[in-house]
Amino acid sequence: MKDIKRIGILTGGGDCPGLNAVIRSITKTAIGDYGIEVVGFIDGFKGLVENHYRTLDFQSVSGIGHTGGTILGTTNRDNPFRYLISPEKEEPVYCDKSAQAIQNISDAGCDGLIVIGGDGTLNIAQRFHEIGVKIVGVPKTIDNDLQATDVTFGFNTAVNTASEALDKLHTTAESHHRVMILEVMGRYAGWIALHAGISGGADVILIPEIPYSLDRIIDKIKFRYQHNKKFSIIVVAEGAAAIDGKMEVQKMVPTSHDPIRLGGIGRKVGQDIEDLTGIETRVTVLGHLQRGGQPIPFDRILSTRYGAAAVEAFVSGQFGTMVSLQGTSINTVPLTEAIKDIKKVPTDSDIIRTARSIGISFGD
Ligand code: F6P
Repeated sequence: MKDIKRIGILTGGGDCPGLNAVIRSITKTAIGDYGIEVVGFIDGFKGLVENHYRTLDFQSVSGIGHTGGTILGTTNRDNPFRYLISPEKEEPVYCDKSAQAIQNISDAGCDGLIVIGGDGTLNIAQRFHEIGVKIVGVPKTIDNDLQATDVTFGFNTAVNTASEALDKLHTTAESHHRVMILEVMGRYAGWIALHAGISGGADVILIPEIPYSLDRIIDKIKFRYQHNKKFSIIVVAEGAAAIDGKMEVQKMVPTSHDPIRLGGIGRKVGQDIEDLTGIETRVTVLGHLQRGGQPIPFDRILSTRYGAAAVEAFVSGQFGTMVSLQGTSINTVPLTEAIKDIKKVPTDSDIIRTARSIGISFGD
């Protein structure tokens, strides 16, 4: 601990409510409790490669705990081990800039890095750890798809946003006797759809973990219709797919950590339902509203706990770890545990059973 003078931090991947609360907590804990300086690399790993950083102090992190976005900027395109060096629109040319990044960490006077990110960012963090950089990770993503933690920060804010959207869709669906579909994010996991769907009173929830049959969805809508419920609410995760279908891809983005941009399943399901039932069906794609804006109090508190715990893990030499919520305690876990696989919704979990018990259909 007594040898540590300065820690570098960065935020990587898609932004997420709670990033600023983590930055604030790391900075206040490092300076206040340990007398350690903090610098923030700008725009994630891009700032690390380009040697672009700023000093963080009490003043610069004051008043940001409740704000959305990240004061450091972020990107989900830049990987120092495969760094894009060709100009935009030309054939991509990549180069390994990891040695440059390590040099920049040392030139900035940093003893190591606290990396705040999801699986793409933490995979890169693990590679730096393997070549000797002192690393501690913080689990960020609205998707909640990281292993080895009960929950990532940002997830509950996204659920809150989606749930509020469902409350609004409910009243207009009922007034117009329509089927309303809400497409939510989550990549290959259905956590946001499942939690928002239960909270927002959805009749059907479609998630990647449970392939759906259109017939079963229509059975549910017709059953409701026959029982004088002439409207239905469907939540579709962007990664959901039919039993005999595949995920809907909006676009391929080869230069991104996440080259498959999902999207379009809501429109597809909506069109199919309208064609087969004749019931007017409308689709809302919630998109980046789930990522923007203020974190809810749960995420402000979790982010603050994660930030302080990350500094404590760093000063106690627990490198190559990620801070994690397990039950009610914050612990550390090996980064390798967190990134070994995407955490999907277990289809035999009590939350799925509960949803079925109250009559929610998963289209299966
Ligand atoms: O991982 C977070 C997330 O919001 C996913 O839910 C979504 O698929 C993806 O990022 C969208 O990323 P982008 O902002 O690059 O389109």
